[in-house]
Amino acid sequence: MNLLALETSCDETAAAVISETGNASGPWRIASSIVASQSEIHRAWGGVVPELASRQHVRDICGVVYAALDQAGISLDDVGAIAVTQGPGLVGSLLVGVAFAKSLAWARGLPVIPVHHLAGHIESLTLAHGELPLPAAVLVVSGGHTSLYHVPSAGVYQVVGRTRDDAAGEAYDKVAKLLGLGYPGGPVIDRLAREGRDDAFDFPVTRLTHADRNAPHPTAPPGLLPPEAARRVDFSFSGLKTAVLRLIRERTKEPSGGQRGSRVDVKVKAAATNGSHGLSRQEVADICASFQRVVVQALLDRTFEAAGWLGARSVGIAGGVSANSRLRAEATARGERTGIPVFVPPLHLSTDNAAMIGAAGFRRLRSGATFDLSFNAEASLTLTG
Ligand code: KG4
Ligand code: ZN
Repeated sequence: MNLLALETSCDETAAAVISETGNASGPWRIASSIVASQSEIHRAWGGVVPELASRQHVRDICGVVYAALDQAGISLDDVGAIAVTQGPGLVGSLLVGVAFAKSLAWARGLPVIPVHHLAGHIESLTLAHGELPLPAAVLVVSGGHTSLYHVPSAGVYQVVGRTRDDAAGEAYDKVAKLLGLGYPGGPVIDRLAREGRDDAFDFPVTRLTHADRNAPHPTAPPGLLPPEAARRVDFSFSGLKTAVLRLIRERTKEPSGGQRGSRVDVKVKAAATNGSHGLSRQEVADICASFQRVVVQALLDRTFEAAGWLGARSVGIAGGVSANSRLRAEATARGERTGIPVFVPPLHLSTDNAAMIGAAGFRRLRSGATFDLSFNAEASLTLTG
């Protein structure tokens, strides 16, 4: 069967055709994958503007779907099911994909499968590498999420850790903004970090061990992790972002002691829009490299610790930040050291795309679940299953 998949949760309008292979260890193949990125539109604003995003999805969605069918060499008559991202994401953006998918499914008499965006990121690993050795510990790390999942069997996702504040990709984007590097920040910091010294600045690696207002209970289901470990799987990146902000303040030549709203603050904020912070290219590269070292260490320490506690037979890393060159290299090296195979998607499946939504859609369809048209877009959908 061919499945048409749609993804419009944030600032990419994407459509793909996924086909079944009949091979249980590698069940799906990408027949086509089209992504229309809006990053040029949002770059001018330093981040995604929700209203602009949903309007652009409306403009792009028909063309993107036709392009996906063309690239796959099929017509709508050859499509047996439709999958669409239901959430989480920007509700106005999600609505465009959901309304389009439901209308097309109704008009053609096809089943439509609502898909959780993070299930899509997790299944991008199966799409690229075939079924993972299970149980697996899978880190989903993107602009909106930093969550660690236990996958005990195919299609079952149990969250065991998550960020208590910023997502790792969000920290990349905010630090890039502070340094006047533009949006999205991940790729540019990744590139600049190669020119910098990663030990130039001693930024803190946050290690959580305690309850707080945001997380009164451990994230993992009771009994899954040893009690003393359950809280150690959460992440936090807002302190790191503040440490970078402080460093930039110290290094600008304004009088010190800046409170919020001081001239130093104003100067740092100005840097966010025009890059005029006065730091040399080498200083910026050193900040990028030092920041990236800490993010990668925080992500991998927790992921590999949890993999050990869970008795995982593989580690997966998916989502936009899994495109990061240092994260990929260090994850592979740690995998070799610990003897746990590590899987990351190819770059075109790391950032948002519809092929991964198709894979997760097939997973749900073949699990025997049935679907109707009564679902709606959900900005804060949680992942269970
Ligand atoms: O998965 P994704 O495309 O969208 C969300 O679901 O959020 O992830 C986008 C995030 C952005 O924050 C972007 O800065 C980050 O992924 N990103 C990277 C890299 N490429 C994209 N972060 C670090 N290094 C990269 N090479
Ligand atoms: Zn994503």
